[in-house]
Amino acid sequence: MMNVLIVGSGGREHALLWELRCDRPHDAFYAAPGNAGTAELAENVAIAASDIPALVDFCEARSIDLVVVGPEAPLAAGLVDALWDRRIPAFGPRARAAEIESSKAFAKEIMKRNTIPTAAFETFQDVARAESYIRTRGAPIVVKASGLAGGKGSIVCETVEEALRTARSMLEDRQFGEAGATVVVEEFLEGEELSLLFLCDGADAVPMLGSQDHKRLGEGDTGPNTGGMGAYAPVSIADETLVTKTLERIVQPALWALAREDRVYRGCLYVGLMVKDGEPYVVEFNCRFGDPEAQAILPLLRSPLFETVERIARGGSVRDLELEWSPGAAVCIVLASAGYPGAYEKGKPISIPGDLVEREDILIFHAGTRRDAEKRTVTDGGRVLNVVGVGPNVPEAARISREAAELIEFEGKIFRRDIAWRQIERLGIA
Ligand code: AMP
Ligand code: GLY
Repeated sequence: MMNVLIVGSGGREHALLWELRCDRPHDAFYAAPGNAGTAELAENVAIAASDIPALVDFCEARSIDLVVVGPEAPLAAGLVDALWDRRIPAFGPRARAAEIESSKAFAKEIMKRNTIPTAAFETFQDVARAESYIRTRGAPIVVKASGLAGGKGSIVCETVEEALRTARSMLEDRQFGEAGATVVVEEFLEGEELSLLFLCDGADAVPMLGSQDHKRLGEGDTGPNTGGMGAYAPVSIADETLVTKTLERIVQPALWALAREDRVYRGCLYVGLMVKDGEPYVVEFNCRFGDPEAQAILPLLRSPLFETVERIARGGSVRDLELEWSPGAAVCIVLASAGYPGAYEKGKPISIPGDLVEREDILIFHAGTRRDAEKRTVTDGGRVLNVVGVGPNVPEAARISREAAELIEFEGKIFRRDIAWRQIERLGIA
């Protein structure tokens, strides 16, 4: 029997916990800090994902055999380094490798030096230089805070004026604090976005199923950007040819380049792509599983995830490993609090009909939830629940998740009814 700790408190971490526990039902699982959903599968431990010393001490005290880190912030802050120093196997890259997400300037330099296809760019710390580059390139153009900004640091600017304003607010007014002390200004890429996740051992990578998330708040992909309002898998543009191109042109060169710089990358590498005419271009790298992509992908995984994650955490190889996927589809709808991604209220009691919980074609992963003093499950964040419908195809999975999303209740519930619309349109089934 093993003791396993999942670090984080979102829907991604609940989904990872659920998947790992399906593989190893007799192991002891802990979640730090977890949420009301993880509390049903694991023991929640009241340690913040950012509290590295407390996490390491907990792992030693409880003889934790494996740590799986969900979010980027603790990876960038060196949680895996601290665990390795105490010989505690951990899944996720060390801080130097996690820079592929925590410094966009670094990620772009790696891509440039290794001719990995991505948008043309320049990096700036000086406002006047950024302004002159923006004026020369013209709009549309994209301005990005180089550091971690909770997914809000990339602004697609329709006009030169907007780009100038954005660059100034990042560099001069420190709108994103130190994360915006360096900005990347890059070419606007046209095409369709796609998320491809790879399980990496430092040298080799195993692709997971392609997925697409919906970052905008409103239906039809309108309104402000959010942490993600839903995701689905599979995506037909993520065919074998595209996955092979991504592996050969992007992932392999990136892994080798990182390894050469003493930044061996072990963990999940999230490649955010723009696909145009069947060609993949990198929009971003993330050093972790996608949220909410993981919630849509993991329910379709047939191979045990535990073995692969443990192998990578212990420094083993994934060469020649292939993952087996169910032939069906999954659609994840995020239920959020009214007002999100702006200000919202918390503490609203949540009611989930019992028969939804029983159903095999529905999975409910918690994000911002907690148990209150009266042991009720209440809302505790902007994104509250992830409702995943699993079906034979994307339109059917979308219907299942939508119907379930309607039946769950809490005051101020909002959600998008059009998750997976691109694929549904492609398939021509209404
Ligand atoms: P990022 O934080 O880099 O993932 O960017 C957030 C979102 O901004 C992406 O998911 C895209 O929708 C959009 N975006 C970022 N960079 C570009 C680009 N070069 N061209 C077009 N859209 C982009
Ligand atoms: N779904 C986008 C992300 O995880 O960064």
